[in-house]
Amino acid sequence: MHLNTAHNYLSSDTEFDNLFPIHIQNLSAVHWTPLNVAAVAARWLAPNAGAKVIDIGAGVGKFCIAGSIYTKGIFTGIEQRKNFVTIGNKVVKQLGLQRVSLIHGNFTELDLGGYTGIYFFNSFHENLVFADALDNKIEMSGELYELYSAHMLRQLNAMPVGTRLATFWLSITEIPGCYKLQDSHFNNLLKLWVKEH
Ligand SMILES: C[S@@+](CC[C@H](N)C(=O)[O-])C[C@H]1O[C@@H](n2cnc3c(N)ncnc32)[C@H](O)[C@@H]1O
Repeated sequence: MHLNTAHNYLSSDTEFDNLFPIHIQNLSAVHWTPLNVAAVAARWLAPNAGAKVIDIGAGVGKFCIAGSIYTKGIFTGIEQRKNFVTIGNKVVKQLGLQRVSLIHGNFTELDLGGYTGIYFFNSFHENLVFADALDNKIEMSGELYELYSAHMLRQLNAMPVGTRLATFWLSITEIPGCYKLQDSHFNNLLKLWVKEH
């Protein structure tokens, strides 16, 4: 099935979330990036057509899909829950979007080389507060939180100078000092960074 691409799916979060099955819509308020946040973050991460953005923990791809419509950048999302990737890629196809791909896997298996921008919506948090978990289909633990966070820090440190980063709902202490805060929005929940050294 092809969706009417002339329809403005970005007119509201409800309109956008309606692209997905009801159980995915129900997760949106807490777990998917609101469109107004996605617009600011995507424009920061993809200032031009050459930008390659990775969303670490992409869910059903709300940030990537919206980002690809708001900007001319290329958006990739990595997501550990296979059902989310299947559902998200179906919508990508239905909308005929060319600059979005969602891949199934753990971000620890991903090489971040080549990406110019990174989006991170506090994806590892569910390992600390099980009540906030999306489902019980994957293993969650404090040990995994430590492992993922340490891996993320190493990856962020290894990125080239000039790499752009947008974090949503993340404590400032979790970002290495080589990233300089450039701006913040939405009551400091969205922070925009650039790697300086
Ligand atoms: C808060 S949701 C954000 C979804 C999306 N970035 C958005 O803003 O719409 C975080 C997602 O990260 C995924 N995730 C958590 N840890 C992960 C990991 N180690 N590798 C890949 N995905 C992960 C979760 O399954 C969940 O779908």
